[in-house]
Amino acid sequence: MLMVLLLCAGCSSLEIANYSSSTHLHSVVINKPRGLIYIGGSNALLQLDTDLNHIETLNRGPFHYASTCGLNDSCPEGTLKDNEFKILELIQGKNYLLACGTSYQGICSFHSLSNISNYIIIGGDTKSQFVGSRKSSLVHYLPFGEKDLLYVFQEYDGRDFAFSPQVMSLRELATTSTASTMKLLVNNTIVSQFSAFDIMWKYKQEYFMQFVYTFEYEKHLYIVMNQQKDVATKDSIRIKIGRLCLAPDKDSLLRSYAEIELECKKGDTPYSFASSASMLNGTLFISASRLQDSDDKKVDQTAGSLLCAESMDMVTSAFTEVYSMCLLYPDPKKASMVDWNRNKNLSCRQDSVS
Ligand SMILES: *[C@@H]1O[C@H](CO)[C@@H](O)[C@H](O)[C@H]1NC(C)=O
Ligand SMILES: *[C@@H]1O[C@H](CO)[C@@H](O)[C@H](O)[C@H]1NC(C)=O
Repeated sequence: MLMVLLLCAGCSSLEIANYSSSTHLHSVVINKPRGLIYIGGSNALLQLDTDLNHIETLNRGPFHYASTCGLNDSCPEGTLKDNEFKILELIQGKNYLLACGTSYQGICSFHSLSNISNYIIIGGDTKSQFVGSRKSSLVHYLPFGEKDLLYVFQEYDGRDFAFSPQVMSLRELATTSTASTMKLLVNNTIVSQFSAFDIMWKYKQEYFMQFVYTFEYEKHLYIVMNQQKDVATKDSIRIKIGRLCLAPDKDSLLRSYAEIELECKKGDTPYSFASSASMLNGTLFISASRLQDSDDKKVDQTAGSLLCAESMDMVTSAFTEVYSMCLLYPDPKKASMVDWNRNKNLSCRQDSVS
């Protein structure tokens, strides 16, 4: 159970409205012009007004899951799993709410903003309509001219490779009056050009790469991750930040991607697992923990957590240095993170300890 609290801005006295739900809640989107709030939960989407009065609930899930079941399978061999709606995004261009759960390998749906119970499922080709992950996944919506584009980060969650999109991709949403699809912006199998890249298949099942936070800053898209140091050292997890040019016309194949390591330390002790991150007014904040056991990624609660902060100016200049070291962009076919991790250590300033 989780409670949503809303402060009444502009009121002379402080009023707090509250709404409590019997389901786990994951994501919240506020639609100010319409005065509506949408919430993604476990097996449900909720629609409230800004006074937190309940308007509509759409129940979707639990559904049968097995790693080998696709979109159209009833999946009798699977087990019932909750459908976790962790991704909600307002698609301004089309005036829809995009919602992605974890069921059916992470398919998404478009919902009417006035009533979330009116929706359509988003189709595509074999895999590029899957967004949700039973581990981590994040999206960044980019309206681009007439196009609605989505940068998608999806952690591999053990599914059959037939349903596994690349870990990072750029997709286009297309809607007609009857159907909606999500596909890679560029998918040219003949010349092997894709607006996506992946961990090499032989490592994909094992390689740890968890997506924590994505944000836009000065025409670039950043992604904060927990990632193993390299292919060989599985037990060595680092906080990394990746960067892409937010220019789908000039960089449709995501060749501008580079990443650097972020260090968050208390004295000499590294806190190398990011639990959350946030960028505010040009400063990146990361709350970091220590891992008790890198194999099962259990956080050591006794070590507490560290809040690190770094100015985006520093992050930007570290990336500029990385780019100048590698003037040539790599061949996109080889552009898997495992192939070309470019490391540049960047120390986070230690601001406070809790
Ligand atoms: C939303 O749409 C559903 C299905 O069309 C309908 O049953 C429900 O009453 C509508 N809810 C509201 C608040 O209009
Ligand atoms: C690219 O398009 C082909 C044909 O439509 C499809 O089978 C394939 O899954 C697509 N690739 C990706 C990575 O989405």
